[in-house]
Amino acid sequence: MTLLSPTAGSRQVPGPRGVPVLGSLPQWKKSTAEFLLRTQRDHGEISRIKLGPQNVYLVSDPDAVAHVLKGNSANYVRGQLYEQFRIVMGDGLLTTDGDYWKAHRRAVQPAFMRKAVAAIGPYTVDATNEMLDDWEERARRGEPVDLVAETLRLTLVTLSRSLFGFDVRPSTPVLKDVVDHVIEVMFKHGTVTEMMPSWMPTKRNRLIARDRRILTRLVDDVRERHAATGEGRLMELIEAATDPATGARWSDEEIRDEMLTIYLAGHETTAVALLWTLLSLANQPASREELEEETDRVLAGRAPTADDMDDLPFTRNVIDESLRLYPPIWIYPRDAVQADELGGYPIPAGSSVLLSPLVSHRNPRYWDNPEAFDPHRFDPGPSKDRPKMTYFPFGAGARMCIGNLMALLELRIAVAMISQRFRLSLLPGDFVRYGDTSISLRPLNEVLVTLHPRDGRRGGRKDA
Ligand code: HEM
Repeated sequence: MTLLSPTAGSRQVPGPRGVPVLGSLPQWKKSTAEFLLRTQRDHGEISRIKLGPQNVYLVSDPDAVAHVLKGNSANYVRGQLYEQFRIVMGDGLLTTDGDYWKAHRRAVQPAFMRKAVAAIGPYTVDATNEMLDDWEERARRGEPVDLVAETLRLTLVTLSRSLFGFDVRPSTPVLKDVVDHVIEVMFKHGTVTEMMPSWMPTKRNRLIARDRRILTRLVDDVRERHAATGEGRLMELIEAATDPATGARWSDEEIRDEMLTIYLAGHETTAVALLWTLLSLANQPASREELEEETDRVLAGRAPTADDMDDLPFTRNVIDESLRLYPPIWIYPRDAVQADELGGYPIPAGSSVLLSPLVSHRNPRYWDNPEAFDPHRFDPGPSKDRPKMTYFPFGAGARMCIGNLMALLELRIAVAMISQRFRLSLLPGDFVRYGDTSISLRPLNEVLVTLHPRDGRRGGRKDA
């Protein structure tokens, strides 16, 4: 239990006034990201936002973020939003707390340690090469590609082969539809049909039932394949996992929920990160040229491995900077179990606390010219002077993203390989906006880009 300071109870948390009854709900709905950035600018790093009957606390002060995610994390449990995730993912790492979560995290953790992750490198190389070979054909025909679909397929194929030992390629078009809908179900709520009970035959409920059917089928196929081949490090761990209290093997439902959690949490986020990195480079010729110079010099036309990463500092910086400006998970809530104090302000028991990497990452107090894409801000010098919790694209503390090392390696390899072989440009007039009311920072529409092969280079190909 945290003791409140004597003055905490009397301090009013600053925040926008909003309108009677609804509070700031209209501005929130119009553009959540813009509204939250404005709130930080006008009211500071701890502010209170009234959303209808509810008060929500937006927290970006680095010490307070550390307190919520690390120092007093036991007091801050998964908020209501995670209930939405449960509709599709059931009880997996993302949606559970306490002993159940701890046992599951421990069981699968070995697949995400540095050494195990290095083995994912060759899978990323193969999947990226397949994509780039196809891009060459399409560039020859003068066809643009949709970067949303391409990045989603790349990360899904890599994740499925490397962790689960399963080639998901034939199912990728169907799975893309399912994942698009699942994301909508998980992140958009508040309409009347969403309040209907799940047995009512609404269009939404029918689609959820279809999603679950297709995803359960995928899980069954993956398990069947693993039983036949023994491939997939994560599958091995999941099939062997036991309950620490009873020693019993995980039930089929437990296995299914954990597999779906990792499939869904692992590929969409990485795809969104790759997409924004590629778009940022398309718009920043100076950064793109610096990246090309580095990958050409260090790799000299061959494919990268995990061991090359220390020699590709600018490539790493490009990805770090993209995750700063466009963190795929840009907002996440916690509920305070007991009353607490953040930055000298009282936080009542039961209130929702909102952490937003997007808002923290654009705080002008810690980031010069925060809206600009500048990979050099991650050079060792400037990084040293920044407080820790001003940058947390993967969260922090015990609930930090389990796949962060995997995502970073995959992104670095894919970005290096794409820069070896292609330059991209957005089709003229194409305007990209991110999905304001969705938690995942996906553009609202498809993103068509033109492909420009780099004068016949064959960087990263096996035959290079
Ligand atoms: C750029 C890519 C990624 C980003 C930005 C990202 C971001 C995050 C964040 C911010 C959290 C913490 C959420 C919270 O505390 O409420 C999280 C948790 C999680 N992520 Fe990731 N993630 C990425 C890639 C991955 C990958 C590749 C995997 C697995 C293959 C993965 C699996 C998970 C899981 C299972 C959790 C829940 C962990 C737990 O609570 O124990 N993520 N991720």
